[in-house]
Amino acid sequence: MKIWAFYSLKGGVGKTAAAVNITLEAAAAGETVLLWDLDPQGAASWYYGCDKRSKLQPADLATGKKAPGRSVQRTAFDRLSVLPADPAYRDWDVAIHEQKKPRKVLDRLTAPFSEQYSLLILDCPPSQGALATSILRAADQSLVPVVPTPLSLRALDGVYELVSQKKVGKTGVKPFFSMVDRRRKAHRALLQSRPDVMADGLDTVIDYSAHVEQMSEHRQPVRMFAPRSRAAQEFSAMAQELLAPKA
Ligand SMILES: Nc1ncnc2c1ncn2[C@@H]1O[C@H](COP(=O)(O)OP(=O)(O)OP(=O)(O)O)[C@@H](O)[C@H]1O
Ligand SMILES: [Mg+2]
Repeated sequence: MKIWAFYSLKGGVGKTAAAVNITLEAAAAGETVLLWDLDPQGAASWYYGCDKRSKLQPADLATGKKAPGRSVQRTAFDRLSVLPADPAYRDWDVAIHEQKKPRKVLDRLTAPFSEQYSLLILDCPPSQGALATSILRAADQSLVPVVPTPLSLRALDGVYELVSQKKVGKTGVKPFFSMVDRRRKAHRALLQSRPDVMADGLDTVIDYSAHVEQMSEHRQPVRMFAPRSRAAQEFSAMAQELLAPKA
């Protein structure tokens, strides 16, 4: 089972939008996908129509008292299930920090899913605490949306720093440009200059799009209500790039 985490230190950069759309694209491409919404805000679950909370407390999960699998919900889509968030997820950092081996908590919790799913997608809250470290360790790929501004690039530096300081190991950090507004000179300039910190990044760029904004009206991934839109094409291209990386 592959594990992809949509992660950033920064809030509001397009983690959830990408996680929700890439989940559907990967399922359409034949993967059996589980989207685990780790953010107490529960936006990813909400986009998939999951109104029930998971009713799982981080303390019970971290200690192994409860297994997350019991709260998985089917969706209207083939090969696509969601493990919804719970407001109690605001306590992840404390619950994980209290464990003997905090970095291994997500490794342990996600392992049983490999029996049923070929791909686990994690939608992460913006944080750099114990949950983040455990996520970065568990994920094969950490996908980091970067709005083309100096501050976002600085936040990406922070992700690389976190990965090296905490020796989280094998995760491949893959940044990608997100919410790009090509009418803005500053965005265009950063896109063209391709800063060093983006060297390992994805080729696919996610542009600023009214269709992505409209996801909250439709409560669906973009391809369901605007399949021919540029945004739908970009998310499809990103899934293809991730599923068939260049040799
Ligand atoms: N490519 C895009 N074009 C236009 N709007 C976007 C795009 N991506 C995200 N948005 C909008 O920006 C807001 C934040 O996006 P999103 O929730 O995906 O960010 P996030 O990084 O998950 O935020 P948080 O840190 O709060 O979890 C949302 O209102 C979303 O609709
Ligand atoms: Mg989010």
